[in-house]
Amino acid sequence: MINFSFAVLISGNGSNLQAMIDAIEEKKIQGRICCVLSNKENAYGLIRAKEVGISTEVVNNENYSTREEFDSKMIEVLAGYQPNLIVLAGFMRILSPIFVKSYRERILNIHPSLLPKFPGLDTHRRVLESSETRHGVTVHFVDDTLDGGPICSQSSILIKTNSPIELKKKIHELEYELYPKVINWFGQGRLTQVKDKVYLDNKELNIGERNES
Ligand code: GRF
Repeated sequence: MINFSFAVLISGNGSNLQAMIDAIEEKKIQGRICCVLSNKENAYGLIRAKEVGISTEVVNNENYSTREEFDSKMIEVLAGYQPNLIVLAGFMRILSPIFVKSYRERILNIHPSLLPKFPGLDTHRRVLESSETRHGVTVHFVDDTLDGGPICSQSSILIKTNSPIELKKKIHELEYELYPKVINWFGQGRLTQVKDKVYLDNKELNIGERNES
């Protein structure tokens, strides 16, 4: 994709956003972030974006009475930037069908578990309380369900700690490697979603099925 540009949606710290900013600087992502949009005015990620001159937008979900109205406002704001891809990075809202349709097959999310295991919040503690021996991260295309949509890539580690904080740190390190790599695949036209299937270099991926037990 020539002139690949993507919008990043955040709600908080934005350490994954920072990894993307760094990856662009290091040419690991060939493209640019056209806009960082937050639903929280005080998200630290907005400061990270401003520091490097990236446009920022705030659409506060509390100002909208329905998910559809909130999503419609985001669609309107993002239209001004014409992103090729929407990248969710710690964006704590579930997108409605209106938004998903508007950016059909062009929305990525990262989730801190080996989906389909452990969707939702507090994954590190829940993994530690389970009998799992591995934990990891998933990048997936997004549908309108919680952490749902076909999987693009995963990476994982053996669990060697009892501390959720330590585990979270390790998982974040995986995220900072994996997410820029997958975003760049999309930017280069190597990664595509067609309905509920994902293709990398024209080969269908079936990641995630082996995690079902
Ligand atoms: C990450 O763990 C990501 O997997 C999840 O939300 C967290 C965001 O962290 N979706 P940050 O805001 O990028 O630091």
